[in-house]
Amino acid sequence: MKKNILFALIAMLSLLLAACGTSEKNEGTNGDNNDGESTEKKVLEMATSADFAPFESRNKDGEFIGFDIDLANYIADELGYELNIQDMKFDGLIGALQNDRVDMVLAGMSATEKRQKNVDFSTTYNRSGEMFVTLKDAGIEKVEDLEGKTVGVQLGTIQQEGAEKIQEDIVDFEMKTVDSGQVLIQELKSNRIDVAYMDKAVAKGYIKEQDLFGFDDPTSSSPGMAVAFPKGSELVDEVNAILKEAEENGKLQELKDKWLEEEE
Ligand code: ARG
Repeated sequence: MKKNILFALIAMLSLLLAACGTSEKNEGTNGDNNDGESTEKKVLEMATSADFAPFESRNKDGEFIGFDIDLANYIADELGYELNIQDMKFDGLIGALQNDRVDMVLAGMSATEKRQKNVDFSTTYNRSGEMFVTLKDAGIEKVEDLEGKTVGVQLGTIQQEGAEKIQEDIVDFEMKTVDSGQVLIQELKSNRIDVAYMDKAVAKGYIKEQDLFGFDDPTSSSPGMAVAFPKGSELVDEVNAILKEAEENGKLQELKDKWLEEEE
């Protein structure tokens, strides 16, 4: 008798498990159907690190805004995709592409040779040098003045590498890495770092908005910003074609006028 109950229980359990399995599978099949007759749009998964105005940040309502966001929407529209944006730490973006968790990354990411070992890049859509940002009247006006100071950089950025190189080659200072671009400016304003080292286009925004001081990094020659993809992605060519078109039809310039200050 007892045995029968046990049997019944096991049978019920396996039925339940089987049901779970099927529902999962069904989800997958539905997704695949998007390629076919379904009217649902395919989703393009993009990741960014929304701590980097004017390229990507969030407005008061938590919506993504910025140059990269507009450009990504343009790309998705042109390709007939619906865009879904995931926010991550900058340091995790390359990994997300390598694990195929997202289709592309727009995050003001410079197309360095080192990164090209792990991901593919589109053609570049913007160039920006580097800048050192300080409080006004800090008396730090050139690279040599960094001696003995604390310089903050965002983790995983080319500025982290650049700062390490300056430390080795030119002048000795302490380096502090933080997770987010916004935190860098907070650290500066609360005197926990003396200098924030970042992309010029981003630095210029903060200098103006928060009444700070900044000077150009004469040592840097960083590659331009590009869209990043998992290695071998078919999207590379498609996005390159769209970027070319955006260059020619004035869309890229329109976005630069909207979000970026003129490079002097
Ligand atoms: N251009 C720099 C780099 O590629 C910094 C980019 C930081 N981007 C961001 N969304 N926080 O390393």
